[in-house]
Amino acid sequence: VPLNAAELLVMLERSPSGPLRVRLAAALRDAIRAGQLMPGTTLPSTRVIAQDLGVSRGVAVDAYAQLAAEGFITTRPGTGTTVAFLPAAARPDFWAIGETVTAPVPDLDLRPGWPDLAAFPRREWAAAVRDVLGELATSALGYAEPWGSWELRRQLAVYLTRVRGAIAAPAGVVVVNGVTQGLTLLCRLLREQGQDRLAVEDPSNAFQRELLARLGMDVVNIPVDDQGLRVDALAGSGAGVVLCTPAHQYPSGVVLSPARRASLLRWAADADALVLEDDYDAEFRYERGPMGCLQGMDPLHVALLGSVSKTLAPALRIGWVLCPPQLLTGLRTARRDDDFGSNAIDQHVLARLLELGTYDRHLRMLRRRYRTRRDALVEAFARALPDWEVLGSAGGLHLTVRLPEGVPEGRLLVAAAGLGLSVFGLGAMTAAAIRRPASLFPMPGRPRTWR
Ligand SMILES: Cc1ncc(COP(=O)(O)O)c(C=O)c1O
Repeated sequence: VPLNAAELLVMLERSPSGPLRVRLAAALRDAIRAGQLMPGTTLPSTRVIAQDLGVSRGVAVDAYAQLAAEGFITTRPGTGTTVAFLPAAARPDFWAIGETVTAPVPDLDLRPGWPDLAAFPRREWAAAVRDVLGELATSALGYAEPWGSWELRRQLAVYLTRVRGAIAAPAGVVVVNGVTQGLTLLCRLLREQGQDRLAVEDPSNAFQRELLARLGMDVVNIPVDDQGLRVDALAGSGAGVVLCTPAHQYPSGVVLSPARRASLLRWAADADALVLEDDYDAEFRYERGPMGCLQGMDPLHVALLGSVSKTLAPALRIGWVLCPPQLLTGLRTARRDDDFGSNAIDQHVLARLLELGTYDRHLRMLRRRYRTRRDALVEAFARALPDWEVLGSAGGLHLTVRLPEGVPEGRLLVAAAGLGLSVFGLGAMTAAAIRRPASLFPMPGRPRTWR
């Protein structure tokens, strides 16, 4: 069906401002892409377009020439101008299978795992960007060491030693895009070395479980009780590697007890096994002094993984692996092979904030803020829902609430969603049948300002 002038005028109205020939080409291109003008459709001649639209013929000739050059239309003597048969990739439904439907943003977005994004130190970050760009050597803009800039590795080594009780030196730090990339690269390396049986805590982060399975790891579930990981179950598991969250178990919030820490380290040393210590929110402890990381007790058998996703923002994609020496060369190679390393400017900026103490000040402010919110949340549960058992509130950015008998998790989640409130249920994070359902409640607050 040939296109008529009225349709063309409507299309033109929708196209952006600019010279008429550009607008005409854009309107036709959009219509072809959207499937409005199907392959094989005959387009009006340039003479007819010029007449109908009241423009010079040159405008139509130019627009058609542009579209023909781009492959959207075909001009052949005799048959006129028709819409081309486009490669599949140019058809509107080609990518449909890859589209994820964006869930509507709830009124109160309480997804755990998100820090208070409104607290991001924009001014300090911007000032550090300006300083760093003013000072950075030209050569620093080239291909750098894929495992991280020396300045950032040095600052991280100092920071992790001081704040997390790690045993660290710049040479042992590999900068990554986050705990997720660190885990991916380590698993790839371990598989290459024939180590593919990996133990995880049950319950644990649902995404990480899926990721590990996709990486081809043979995942074994080890239960968690009120002292943390059941280390006694590791021995018979056949796993030579365990992924765990000792500082604040995700999701239950349990802090690994001193006795369990000792037996986990004993297991690793005796079995010459590897502990992947996911330190994802260890900076936040509200009740006692900070608990040092496991890596500081045995740097040969523990890899410490952390990131700024909870302390600054997930969007930065900056993290680290403090790597046992026997895996270091392999991990550096894996990082290089993967993507040649992280954005150097951001690394220098973070190094600067660590060096100036800005990062520490920011953390002190965040701890006060989260503690206030934690207290309010715990107090609200005690007042309004006294038989809902609050767990894991000693640290981190979320707490877990064990639901009383007769309150099924599914119904709670549906009811919460109905109120525009998104909380996570523990059901999706466990391989075992849960005896008492529970849900996660985050503490970040100020969600309305996030939009
Ligand atoms: C258990 C756990 N580890 C790590 C992370 C952070 O991952 P990344 O550093 O890749 O942002 C999260 C984020 O929610 C998490 O829940």
